[in-house]
Amino acid sequence: MKFFIDTAEIEEIRALAPSGLVDGVTTNPSLIAKSGRDFMEVIAEICEIVDGPVSAEVTATNSAQMIDEGRKLAKIADNVTIKLPLTFDGLVACRTLVDEGHTTNLTLCFSANQALLAAKAGATFISPFIGRLDDMGIDGMELIEEIRAIYDNYGFETQILAASIRTVNHVKESAIAGADVATLPPSTLYALAKHPLTDKGLEAFLKDWEKTGQSIL
Ligand code: E4P
Repeated sequence: MKFFIDTAEIEEIRALAPSGLVDGVTTNPSLIAKSGRDFMEVIAEICEIVDGPVSAEVTATNSAQMIDEGRKLAKIADNVTIKLPLTFDGLVACRTLVDEGHTTNLTLCFSANQALLAAKAGATFISPFIGRLDDMGIDGMELIEEIRAIYDNYGFETQILAASIRTVNHVKESAIAGADVATLPPSTLYALAKHPLTDKGLEAFLKDWEKTGQSIL
């Protein structure tokens, strides 16, 4: 499973990059607004830090303008993935941009039928929003399972990018359900490494080591 980082904060990406765990980055207009920075500059900086796909989202709502915006975003760097909303216009824009050789991420996916359309439009990634479905009392993980089954039935190559992840359990369950990628807020990625028994065990080992009076270096 690949991990993308869901943030537009450069310092957060810089801090995580040396871990080798960052396979890509996703942004959206809300994350750009939160950063308070210029959109194009932020995307260019992220693309310099991370080699993998960096999703940059269009803000037009009609396909013609989405295509123009997508082409402009793709010029920022070779690893920009054009993020498009899962509307009918977004699907039309997706097909054109994919045929031109661009990579795309269809976002705001809340149903298996939307994901089926995205695959037929040639999307590189489909982003089902697990957390926002859970917020409404609908099991977001079922959506990942449904999309996995449909894509496997027909051999679609569109990658399932589990998005709107809120908990470490979302990551585990997405991995079990066969999502190809999970996009995580940095805090969730750090949380994946934590376990109270690891902390307790390490504390005991270090206490015993101190008693030996030895040092490795
Ligand atoms: C990523 O591509 C999505 O924009 C993001 O995961 C949405 O997360 P949220 O539902 O927590 O805003």
